[in-house]
Amino acid sequence: MSKKIIAVVGATGAQGGGLVRAILNDPSGGFTARAITRDVNSEKARALAKLGAEVVAGDVDDEASLQRAFTGAHGAYCVTFFWAHFSPAKEQAEAAAMARAAKAAGVKHVIWSTLEDTRKRVPISDPRMPTLQEKFKVPHFDAKGEADALFTAAGVPTTFLLTSFYWDNLIYFGMGPRKGADGQLTFALPMGDKKLPGIAAEDIGRCACGVFKRGSELIGRTVGIAGEHPTGAQMASALGRALGQPVSYYPMPFDAYRKLGFPGADDLGNMFQYKHDFEKEFCGARSVDFSRSLNPQLQNFDAWLAANVQRIPIQ
Ligand SMILES: NC(=O)c1ccc[n+]([C@@H]2O[C@H](COP(=O)([O-])OP(=O)(O)OC[C@H]3O[C@@H](n4cnc5c(N)ncnc54)[C@H](OP(=O)(O)O)[C@@H]3O)[C@@H](O)[C@H]2O)c1
Repeated sequence: MSKKIIAVVGATGAQGGGLVRAILNDPSGGFTARAITRDVNSEKARALAKLGAEVVAGDVDDEASLQRAFTGAHGAYCVTFFWAHFSPAKEQAEAAAMARAAKAAGVKHVIWSTLEDTRKRVPISDPRMPTLQEKFKVPHFDAKGEADALFTAAGVPTTFLLTSFYWDNLIYFGMGPRKGADGQLTFALPMGDKKLPGIAAEDIGRCACGVFKRGSELIGRTVGIAGEHPTGAQMASALGRALGQPVSYYPMPFDAYRKLGFPGADDLGNMFQYKHDFEKEFCGARSVDFSRSLNPQLQNFDAWLAANVQRIPIQ
């Protein structure tokens, strides 16, 4: 039987790249990977082609290009890139374009990489955190959660995949430990004593591959994934073990985080407060056992650190 094509948006990035590699590393899994990129000649696109992916041009801001890229595919992995533009409206327009393109192309199974609409638990009128961009609490969450309905309305068979905090943020987004004037390392995270579901970015794609392999079982369902649910203090201890020197935990206040001044600090400050205030619900939506059933290679934080600690910049 010929293999089914999975068309992957964001294939040169973290989530999509993990999925392309997971499909290519599983030759008996029944799928082939079609990597969608805006630049088929980039170094990352050529590396995927070398691994065996079909590489095609597509842009989430160009619906016709998406429809071409989805045509003939059994499945499509749909993800948006909030941090490229910081616009919930743009993110929703991109989700709508992907949903319509998947429907028009007759895709049988879409995975939409989504997050909670936090306003269902923290209405705009709730003063515990500031309202951002007039109608959001956590714009990069709320826009995705609201966009779930676009896939349903388009009539595409969809699995709604709730992702988790990438531990890779410690490498790429300056979220790693910092050295104080006394030489001591501190890991700051605005999570108080609560658990933060996290995941190795590469494992998101592996879990998504597991979702496609389940066939129609998870269509119409919302499923959450995480590699572990450590507290900030547990993350600091694990960092200390991996680095070979003590790391203390600083539970940064939400307001201090919101005021850090980098673009999106207010959005992330609200995000951490939401995860803190709704720990039970947020963790409950992301079962580690279920994630491992999709992806037996799933890493916990210690395993991720063992492979990546050397790449974490200490500032
Ligand atoms: N960081 C976290 O902890 C975290 C956790 C959960 C969810 N998320 C969400 O993850 C999403 C980003 O996913 P990611 O981390 O996989 O992204 P990423 O690693 O930043 O990858 C972005 C890739 O997407 C492609 N891309 C960018 N704009 C595009 C466009 N207009 N059309 C087509 N492709 C485009 C780029 O590929 P080309 O240049 O090759 O086209 C790029 O390689 C965000 O919405 C974020 O909210 C992040």
